[in-house]
Formats: sequence, C-alpha cells, structure tokens
Amino acid sequence: MRPFYLTTAIDYVNGSPHLGHAYEKVLTDVIARFRRQQGDAVHFLTGVDEHGQKVQQSARRRGIPPQQYADEVSAEFRALLPRLNISNDDFIRTTEGRHQRVVRRVLQQLFDQGDIYQAEYRGFYSARQEQFLQEKDRHPDGTWPELYGEVTEITESNYFFKLRRHQEWLVAYLTEHEQFIFPSYRQKQVLEFLKEPLNDLCISRPRERLEWGIPLPFDPGYVTYVWFDALLNYYSAVADRPGVWPAAWHVIGKDILVPPHAVYWPIMLHAAGLPLPGGILAHGWWLQSGAKMSKSLGNALNPLDLVAEFGADAFRYFVMREMNVGQDSEFTREQFLVRYNSELANNLGNLVNRTLNMTTRFAAGTVPAAGPAAEAEQELQTLWAKTRAEFVPLCEGFQFHTALERALGFITATNAYIEKRAPWKLGKSAAAADQELLRTALATMAEALRLGTTLLAAVMPAAVEKIHGVLGYAPGAVWADELVWDGRLAGRPVAPALVLFPRPAPPAAAPASP
Ligand code: MSP
Repeated sequence: MRPFYLTTAIDYVNGSPHLGHAYEKVLTDVIARFRRQQGDAVHFLTGVDEHGQKVQQSARRRGIPPQQYADEVSAEFRALLPRLNISNDDFIRTTEGRHQRVVRRVLQQLFDQGDIYQAEYRGFYSARQEQFLQEKDRHPDGTWPELYGEVTEITESNYFFKLRRHQEWLVAYLTEHEQFIFPSYRQKQVLEFLKEPLNDLCISRPRERLEWGIPLPFDPGYVTYVWFDALLNYYSAVADRPGVWPAAWHVIGKDILVPPHAVYWPIMLHAAGLPLPGGILAHGWWLQSGAKMSKSLGNALNPLDLVAEFGADAFRYFVMREMNVGQDSEFTREQFLVRYNSELANNLGNLVNRTLNMTTRFAAGTVPAAGPAAEAEQELQTLWAKTRAEFVPLCEGFQFHTALERALGFITATNAYIEKRAPWKLGKSAAAADQELLRTALATMAEALRLGTTLLAAVMPAAVEKIHGVLGYAPGAVWADELVWDGRLAGRPVAPALVLFPRPAPPAAAPASP
C-alpha cells in the first residue's frame, strides 16, 4: 500500500470553530476517504495551534492560565470532528511534548548550521495580528488598516531565519515541480511573489512580551513565534513514525498559502534536510455577503447548528457540491435548502424510497433477478459506464463539485428510468412479459442505487452505509470492484422504508391577525 499522509491547517484556538474550519475538515476527510478507496495507506492529521499572543490575551481577559484556556477551546475543536464524521487518525496540539521536542530539535539544528542569527529589529507592530508591519501595509494617509488594531513602533532584539539564502533554490524547485501547488494558478502567484528578494523571517519573541510559546533551545529568553511553531506540527506528529513523512498533501486555506506554506515551509524543510511534501492544496473562502466568514467579523456561521438540523451527511454534501475547490463560495441558508430539497430529499431520497417501496409491494421485499436489458436499461448502463469513468479522475483532480454533479446526474437518470418503466403500471398486469419487465425494472433501480451511492460514500459515509444496509448489501474491501454493474443484489431482502433527508420544519408562521 502506498503511504498517503494528509493534513489540514491547525486551527487557532482563540474562538469557536466556524464554517470555514468545518469545510476544511470535510474537504480533507473526503480526500482521505477517497484515497483509502483507492487502496492507499492514509494517515490523516488535524489539530490545533495553541500558542501565541491572541491566546495569551484571551486567557488573560478571562483571568485563567493560557493552558486552561487552550484546553477548553481545543476541546471544542476536537468535538467538531466526530460530529462531522471526520476520519482523522491523529489530532495534534502544539502544546504537546511530542511537538515541542521536535520544534526545539529543528531550531537547534538550524541554529548550529548558521541558518538562524540574532539581530536588532525596529518596526511597526500590530498586536492584534501578531506581526510587524511594513510601509506598504499603510493607507496612503499614513493610518493603518482597521484589521491591525493598535499599531506601535518598537525595537527589539530577535532571532531570524535566513530565508533569502534559499530563495533561488525554491524558485528552481517550483519551476521543476509544476504541480506543487493546487490550483496551479496559485503556483504562478508564488513565483511572482518570489521575484522580489525575501526578507529573513523573524522567528522569536522576547519572553517578557510573549510567554505563551516554545522556548528557543539556544536562548531561553525567547520563545519561538507563530509559523516556526505551527508549521512544524505536520512533521512533529509523525517524526516517530517511520515511513509516514513526507506528507502527500497539506490542505489549507488560500490566506495562509503565501508566504507561510508556499515559501517558509518548503525552505524550512529544505534547510533542515527533510523531504518536501507532495503538494499544497489551497482552498477558497466561504463568504457571507462578499466578506470572508471569520471570528473577528462576527459573521461566522456555527456549522454545528446546520449539522444538528440537517445531519452531517447533508452538510458534507452541500459544502463539497457547492464549492469549486480553490475558489470562493457564498454561503446562504437558502442555497443550502435548495440543494437539500432538490438534490438530496427529492432526488436521492426519492430514489431510495421508491426502490424500497416498490420492491416491497411488487416483489415481496426481495430484489429480483433482471431479465435481458432492453433499450432503457442499456441507456442507463451506458450512462453508468460514463459516470464511473469520469468520477475517479475528477476526484483525483480535486474536482469534487463536478464529480458529485455527475453522480447525482446518474441518480436523476435512474429516477427518469423509473418514470419510463412505470412499475406501478406493470404491477397491475398479469402478462408474463410485463411481469418480467417489472422484475427487470426493480432489479435495475436497486442496482443503479447501489452503484450511484457507492460513488457517494466518501462524501456521505453514514447515509450511504444506511442505504446499502437497507438494500441488504455489504460492500467488499476493494472499492473499484464494487463499481461493476452485475446485479449482485438479486435475492437480497430489502427494508420496507428509510427516512434519510426529512423535510426541514417550515419557519414558524406569523401569528394570525385577530
Ligand atoms: N493557525 C493557523 C494555521 C497554521 S497551519 C500550520 C490559522 N488558523 S485559523 O484558525 O485562522 O484557520 C484555520 C484554517 O481555516 C485555515 O486554513 C483557513 O484558511 C481556514 N479558514 C478560516 N476561515 C475560512 C473561511 N471563511 N472559509 C474557508 N476557510 C477558511 O490560520
């Protein structure tokens, strides 16, 4: 089995999880499940980023130690995972010993190699963003954008990582590895960014200003700062597991691609003599009324509310169907309801109900064997062959929204096939030819439902398992073998009904006027 190590970004624990965080977990989980179906030995890591000024400040405001604060918020992030049916193999917290040991080891190595040096730094500092700002960050009138909060000019001695030394190497690497960043137009943006000389990266904060971090192994008066701590989680989580590193893909949002993941991270690894990951997938943002959904803007949607109302499968389906990976998407409850009703309840849910109901009514609850395929059956089988052939390459290329469109298109075609065959009419006829056609129709719809839902298993694992269960079907270990149209359900008993996507309760009606 090929090792396939997959990671998400680790979330800051300075606020509750929102839709953006939930989406990234679902996207990564769908990739993980899809790769397992392909026979890869997947190792799936997610986790939380617990150090830094914001956590220290939030804890202070609440009057509790930062560790206690981090424990509480991390528990919230962790609790999200089972609710979304995320199949991660590991969860890392940057306060864990296994992480801190590796960070300190790598820092010491880079320091010994001369990749890290100490220097005076003077600049404008934003405490809210925990970063030094540059002249180009200012408005033309000299003021600082709102997002930086209060900006003060400070001088301090800090440690720096020699990024510039490795700049030419990185340009050459990216030029040779054209598929390193997905979507590929983002790789061009990185190369564009690298046309300017890189500033060395400030990697420390004096302990008197920031206590809540990992102390530098070569100077206990400092802690390491933000990216050097956070990025190394991908490696520290598996440093003791032979054969897992390097990652196949890091899944992150576009806001943390350039420079952290596309510039700092490859250079850190290269300098440390570690192999580079296979690629970096940068997804887009969920927006509300055109703005990025975020904690600080207060427009963040609580994913758990939607999950509680509609179930994890519907949520997973919606975000995967709606978002073209890499681009932004507007999130509206209306659009969620449109897809929920038209694609899940009325299309997939309807096919499940019709199949169970008609098999119960016309075949005593047992899937019949199909007779010879006539034109209608052949048409559906041809569409299946096409859908199946397109589905895997679309998923391999992260085009999940199109892959789902195709899979649901096949479900729609199966419903249309049922209309055409009208089993309820055939059921009324005693003619032998009609009875054979009826058996063929029932067998065909059950087989099409089995196959169509097998495609959906990575996106809606729980719903698909239920559907397969009521069809009396337990898929074998090799996913590709399950995609063969062969009528293997013949003779299986089906359940009489399954409620999968119940209609949402209508909004409370306004009180009638007297
Ligand atoms: N802690 C850093 C990442 C360190 S990775 C070594 C961080 N944390 S975060 O909590 O701000 O964001 C975590 C992930 O959620 C990022 O990949 C980010 O892009 C993603 N999202 C946060 N808001 C988002 C949306 N509105 N939409 C989609 N994803 C976005 O950055």
